[in-house]
Amino acid sequence: MEGNLNQRLRHLTCLDIRDMSIECEKTGGINLSQGICDLPLPPILSTAAKTAIDDGLNHYTRYDGLSELREAISEKLLHYNSIQADPRKEIIVTAGSTGAFYCACLALLNPGDEVILFEPFYGYHEYTLLALDITPVYATLTPPCWEFNAAELEHLITPKTKGILINTPANPSGKVFSRRELEVLADICTRHHLFIFTDEIYEYILYDGLSHSSPGSLPTAKDRVITISGYSKTFSITGWRIGYCACNEEFARQIGYVHDLVYVCAPSPLQAAVGKAVHTLPDSFYHSLGTAYEQKRNDLCKALQEAALPPYVPQGAYYVLADTSALPGVTSKEKAIYLLDKTGVAAVPGEAFYHREGGKNLLRFCFAKDDKVLDEACERLQRIKRFL
Ligand SMILES: Cc1ncc(COP(=O)(O)O)c(C=O)c1O
Repeated sequence: MEGNLNQRLRHLTCLDIRDMSIECEKTGGINLSQGICDLPLPPILSTAAKTAIDDGLNHYTRYDGLSELREAISEKLLHYNSIQADPRKEIIVTAGSTGAFYCACLALLNPGDEVILFEPFYGYHEYTLLALDITPVYATLTPPCWEFNAAELEHLITPKTKGILINTPANPSGKVFSRRELEVLADICTRHHLFIFTDEIYEYILYDGLSHSSPGSLPTAKDRVITISGYSKTFSITGWRIGYCACNEEFARQIGYVHDLVYVCAPSPLQAAVGKAVHTLPDSFYHSLGTAYEQKRNDLCKALQEAALPPYVPQGAYYVLADTSALPGVTSKEKAIYLLDKTGVAAVPGEAFYHREGGKNLLRFCFAKDDKVLDEACERLQRIKRFL
């Protein structure tokens, strides 16, 4: 029967991230591998969701989402991202940002097209491209600052290249692309007529006073940018599946039709609740996100440093890559298993974020955890010193 499976997806095995979660569960360890945030959601969301259900908002919404939510997103895009997007034509509410990216690729790209992906990358980005028979072409970011070389990147462009994918702040590196870097990328994309797909799901989770820049705010690139984001991380509602994309009318319509085909709509009462929260919550709510996570970042990075696993301190998002050269093992999976065995802390093997040889000495730790859990993990990490 195996020959009957979709050959494009033959590499879609159990992701290392899930593997480590399973291993962690078996040993009763602390799971810092998966990006699930333990944090509570703002109360306005649960109240508004219950009200929406009780008020009978339990049916399909329009293909592009509830108008209240599109309007709230449009205001937010202008206010926070400096992007002008017409809520009637240029915003599609989607089943998470994952749904937005999948539908954008399906709507705008053809099998055989190439898209440039920065590595270390987020696995879903790579697999989404592969699932649609689009070839990822890898541009490697160099630590510790995760820089790219513009000339080398431009060299990767072929007649088949249709876009560049940016993730800022990035998972797993925590890189926040500067406005200058985005201008360089926008210039390349303009000269080569490429789309810019930009995943900004961690847009509010920034450290050290950095601010977020959106490629969609660059006047030169505006018409080629597909801005993707959502509320999974900002409101700690990863299971609600509320995301969106914003782009020009022609692309938005096509992405909306594809989204209708695949998902019909994002959950209606949850769209209403998110619309209410986006409309109501003050700027201070968003500012406090960065502050809360910054303390967690500092605690985990300090613990990793003390445990002889030096961290690449992230500028944003809620993951840290650490250099695990000190751990025994040839592959990062072996190192992850060793660490779990000796300390009871699970992390993701770095090779999950690279296409070839990269990441062998890296592990990714997620710090979107309750303080007590994180403190315990930091303490347990120190046990590794006895074995080095
Ligand atoms: C870079 C990135 N994009 C998207 C997602 C998923 O977002 P959503 O829940 O909106 O689909 C994640 C989750 O880990 C992520 O790290």
